Amino acid sequence: MASRVRVAVLGAGAIAQDHLRALRFSSRAEIVGIADVNFSLAQKAAAEFGGTAFADYHDMLDRLKPSAVVVCTPPKFHRQHVEDCARAGSDVLCEKPLALTVPECDFMISAVKKAGRQLMAGQVLRYYAGPKTLIEIARSGRIGTVVTCWSTRVGYYDPAHGPSWRYDPKIGGGTAIEWEVHEIDLLRMLAGEAKTVSARVLYTRADSPEFDDHVHAVMTMGEGAIGRIDASNSSYYSECTRGVVGTTGAAWCAWGDVSLRTAGTNDVQIVKPVLPEVPGDVNVGMFQQDDAFLEAIQADKPVPIPGEEGRADVAVAAAILLAGKTGETVRI
Ligand SMILES: NC(=O)c1ccc[n+]([C@@H]2O[C@H](COP(=O)([O-])OP(=O)(O)OC[C@H]3O[C@@H](n4cnc5c(N)ncnc54)[C@H](O)[C@@H]3O)[C@@H](O)[C@H]2O)c1
Repeated sequence: MASRVRVAVLGAGAIAQDHLRALRFSSRAEIVGIADVNFSLAQKAAAEFGGTAFADYHDMLDRLKPSAVVVCTPPKFHRQHVEDCARAGSDVLCEKPLALTVPECDFMISAVKKAGRQLMAGQVLRYYAGPKTLIEIARSGRIGTVVTCWSTRVGYYDPAHGPSWRYDPKIGGGTAIEWEVHEIDLLRMLAGEAKTVSARVLYTRADSPEFDDHVHAVMTMGEGAIGRIDASNSSYYSECTRGVVGTTGAAWCAWGDVSLRTAGTNDVQIVKPVLPEVPGDVNVGMFQQDDAFLEAIQADKPVPIPGEEGRADVAVAAAILLAGKTGETVRI
């Protein structure tokens, strides 16, 4: 067995906890450091998961020289953080969205290459039970040629929960970029690259007028399939479903099991994904994603979701926002 990868985590907020629980369980990782400008958060996380706490990530990189860093800060900081980590000699797994704009993604990708390191785009949906199975079904030929695919994801960001960078598109990117890169990535996996986008985007939050809280897009994908995104961050009812329709079958899921019906049968099959066994507090999707990253680092082989994939997702999200602003169909 290869030696454990010395991993540091940059940002100790909500999603960092998921990574840390997955990394603590992994036989591939040794958590060596955790940095957060909110030092007490870093200290609390280090006390729970191990490693040394830092308020300044530069100190962490200088002192620990981690082999890999998981970047879990708000999107506005991803470019700076990824580039600094790579220049310090670390391979990087960066949370989604890779960055706020396509040029930023390009700068990051080329800076990491120049440093001779690897950059993986966090796209955990590819490892969640339902979406992962949906992708496997779409790519297996079981439903023929993919004709349409869609995602509906609605919920509510409640300002009563306190101020959050998520409402500020200059920090978070907003619904299309911060949320929907998950779903855009899934549709790309189901139907191929997005080629054109038409969209309607509304900005209805009085508390955050620049926040794109309703995003609806129709895309031409792959060999001509239709991809559809429906998202709301101002829906008092929460729901998340995805589906794919092919020439000989159709499949549908939320997060877990997939319902599948194929031509010639009246029955709907429930397809249960095969997942690794993890403790109850470990997010199995996050574990698989982080494990795939660490496996690539250990084996010195390419990471499974290179930065270019994260860039492609951001490019589609940016095209959706542009199409929404102009009312024109945007070519990607
Ligand atoms: N994969 C997923 O399912 C998923 C879910 C939630 C969030 N995310 C992504 O993860 C990232 C973080 O989101 P979150 O919900 O954990 O946010 P969060 O606000 O809970 O945590 C972010 C942390 O980064 C810290 N931070 C900010 N600037 C810093 C700096 N310069 N140096 C060190 N630390 C700094 C903050 O103090 C905070 O603790 C975002 O990109 C978000 O889109 C992904």
